[in-house]
Formats: sequence, structure tokens, C-alpha cells
Amino acid sequence: MSFTVAIDGPAAAGKGTLARALAHYFGFAYLDTGLLYRAVGAGVLAGGDPVAVAQTLDPSDLENEALRTQAVAEAASQVAVIAEVRAALVVFQREFARRDGGAVLDGRDIGTVICPQADVKLFVTASPETRAERRFLELDAKGVVTDRAAILAEVRARDARDQGRAEAPLVAAEDATEIDTTDLTAEEAVMQAITIVAERRRTS
Ligand code: CDP
Repeated sequence: MSFTVAIDGPAAAGKGTLARALAHYFGFAYLDTGLLYRAVGAGVLAGGDPVAVAQTLDPSDLENEALRTQAVAEAASQVAVIAEVRAALVVFQREFARRDGGAVLDGRDIGTVICPQADVKLFVTASPETRAERRFLELDAKGVVTDRAAILAEVRARDARDQGRAEAPLVAAEDATEIDTTDLTAEEAVMQAITIVAERRRTS
């Protein structure tokens, strides 16, 4: 039986942490849809055509640490405004969402465009300053030299592009439950999400 959890929100709000924890707790499969756009962005940085890269993407292209850089994130948000790129990635995401045993997908348009019928929709937010600080600590822990102001500027630029684009802009679905993680520990946010999903599973 399928059961779909859609998690959307801006960069570094904590979607991945929640998605992984839910997948682990409930035994669902997990797809970080940002990796699809990152893989296309990386292909473009390597000289490829965005639409052609998106149309020939292979799931094995997603298992690549090089997709985690800020340069690739920026390229991802640039290719993500292209309608043909988004269209090329829809079928893979929808099939993943319907898989037996349940699935959790995180991204920007999962509850609005990819899975409007999702069983649970979460919209995860946090202040831009909090998100930039988290991203800074994440990169710092990996030994990447960067500065807080640059990360905050990058987070704001990406928010503006993701929210302002014509195709599948970042917006909460009307029936999404918002979790603002600004003042929550990761554990507290995870507990809230587990409670919401467990309640929905009980009543579905
Ligand atoms: O991890 P982080 O939140 O920084 O980024 P990501 O989720 O890996 O997404 C990178 C970029 O891909 C975003 O800034 C979006 O522009 C785009 N994206 C999208 O348009 N739709 C999705 N479902 C997922 C990502």
C-alpha cells in the first residue's frame, strides 16, 4: 500500500533531517528531490544542456557527494526555473511517491505539483538567519571555508528565485501543516512530524 509524505520548504529549513527521520521511523523510502535539480545543475556546470541532462538523468547520478556544494545548489536553482527541466523530472518523482510501503519526498513543489494528493503535507520553515547559520555550520564541519554573510546572501537569493518563479514556485500547499523550526531542536521538530504522520496513518 502506498502512503506519501510531502515535505516542502526553503533551503536549509531542516526538510532533509525530518524526511530522513520519518523514513527511518515509519520504514518509508526517501527521495531528496533537490538532488535531481542539483544533478541537472552539475551537468550544466560541466557544459551540458539543461533539458537534455534532465531528460537523460539516471538515479545513479544522484549518489554523488559533489552535488552538495553551494555552486551546484545555485546552478540547481537556476535550472529549476525551466519548465521543460521540471517536466522531465515529474514521472520519476510520482512513481517514487506511489511505491509500496510508503514514501517521503522533500523539495519545493511536492505538496503543490508533484503529489497534490499526498497523505501528509508538511511545510518546513525557519528564519533566513537561522537557515544560513545551519548551512554555515554544515559546511564548516566539512572543512569548507566560507563566511556567514556570503551564505546568508546566497540563501536569500535562492529563496527569492524559488518563490518568484512562474513554474512551481515555492509556496505552502493550502492543506499543508507548517513546522517553523527556528526555535526548535532537530529532535523537537522530528517529534512534531512523527506525531502528525502517526495521527494520519491511524485515521487513513
Ligand atoms: O538542500 P537545499 O534546501 O539547500 O537545496 P535542495 O533542496 O537540494 O534544492 C536545490 C535547488 O533545487 C532549490 O533551490 C530549488 O531551486 C530546486 N528545487 C526545486 O525547484 N524543486 C524541488 N522539488 C527541489 C529543489
